[in-house]
Amino acid sequence: MAQKSWEALEETCYSCKKCRLWELRTNVVIGKGNPKADILFVGEGPGQQEDLQGQAFVGAAGKLLDKMLASVGLSLETVYITNIVKCRPPGNRDPQEDEKQACLNYLRYQLKLIEPKIIVCLGRVAATTIIDPEFRITRQRGIWFSKKGYDFIATYHPSALLRDEEKKRPAWEDMKAIRKRWDELKGQ
Ligand code: URA
Ligand code: SF4
Repeated sequence: MAQKSWEALEETCYSCKKCRLWELRTNVVIGKGNPKADILFVGEGPGQQEDLQGQAFVGAAGKLLDKMLASVGLSLETVYITNIVKCRPPGNRDPQEDEKQACLNYLRYQLKLIEPKIIVCLGRVAATTIIDPEFRITRQRGIWFSKKGYDFIATYHPSALLRDEEKKRPAWEDMKAIRKRWDELKGQ
């Protein structure tokens, strides 16, 4: 990928066979939203609907995420949403270490194209992969970390909110904190 462009990224990803996840995928899912967003959300990997439709966060978890974003005045016009791995892990199992490492170059490339200021990890897989391997989501969500010039925060994955209603309130507090940090950055 010599030339930095979304076209180059798409071309490379759509034919990628760098890890075993290519074998069962229907579609590679790169991401959606504003390609110049200040805020980048990173999930885990495509689920069944995402794999079938070739679009990130379009299933039940995605619908909840849309609502949470809207509740703090954010939308796909102001954020970009992607995943740690771009192909669906079978049965929605966790992506394995070698699969994550194989795919991370695409996330790094997206970071260079988007140049976000805030990176939001949705759930344990994203947080342990890009903030700290020892990250504990229940204890460390909602806390800001500075790393490599980005502001990082982690919150619960929307799928976790669908399983446990009690996580919704803290996740909403995190969304409000993200909105507030974004307002502060814009005011600078
Ligand atoms: N869960 C994720 O982590 N990513 C998606 O795109 C959909 C569900
Ligand atoms: Fe390539 Fe990533 Fe898909 Fe693996 S998950 S085949 S590295 S695009």
